[in-house]
Amino acid sequence: MLEFSQFDRRRYPTVPVREGYREWLPSYETTVEDEMDVVLLAALERVPWASVERAADLGCGTGRTGAWLRQHGVARIDGIDLTPEMLAIARGRGIYERLAQADVAGTGLEGGTYDLVTTCLVDEHLRDLRPLYREGARLLRPGGIHVLVGYHPHFIMTTGIPTHFDRRTGEPVAIETYVHLLSDHVTAALAAGLSLGEMRERLVDDRWIALKPRWAPYRNHPVSFLMAWRKE
Ligand SMILES: C[S@@+](CC[C@H](N)C(=O)[O-])C[C@H]1O[C@@H](n2cnc3c(N)ncnc32)[C@H](O)[C@@H]1O
Repeated sequence: MLEFSQFDRRRYPTVPVREGYREWLPSYETTVEDEMDVVLLAALERVPWASVERAADLGCGTGRTGAWLRQHGVARIDGIDLTPEMLAIARGRGIYERLAQADVAGTGLEGGTYDLVTTCLVDEHLRDLRPLYREGARLLRPGGIHVLVGYHPHFIMTTGIPTHFDRRTGEPVAIETYVHLLSDHVTAALAAGLSLGEMRERLVDDRWIALKPRWAPYRNHPVSFLMAWRKE
């Protein structure tokens, strides 16, 4: 893990995860772009969504990506998240079988029972990736897949932009962000007994620049990534 502060170009005030997401909540779903994660989920070839019986969505937030999974045929989803206010929105969607406030490092969910574990746009908030991958591997049945979508470390390091939102007053605030190299993911996942089945990277393209014109100088830089890890 690398400290974000050495890359920080914005110098926004920084708040811890739970405080940040509680405050971001009213505008969260209108500011997080599907281009970041949903586009990568849609491109994934290894996971036949409609044959997934049970999934665990770690850091499920408001259920944004959980809703996508349900629409694509995932039968049953449990979710956990650290922020109760995000969980309340997820609960209101009525798409999760079980929801609980927990850390991705220790979810309290039953081990060895899930076909799929998802972790979308969460890992940049974790100081250490290893407990996440260990917990994902514990939850999966043999042959199950852990799909992780993350904010790309290259983009964080190049742009110096942390995960952030604007307060009602307009003031930008960062949420505690860490930088994990792709090799950190590989090391942590291999140590947890997982093997890489598929990987994708989303580049800044015309669609992104239409959404965020200030990103034009970053055309063709990777902004997010997906890794699909299989439990042998
Ligand atoms: C950017 S949101 C992503 C939510 C959802 N996965 C999505 O794609 O919309 C990040 C979420 O991760 C949660 N989170 C961050 N660190 C966590 C941790 N250690 N354990 C559980 N949840 C965590 C936050 O509370 C927040 O809801």
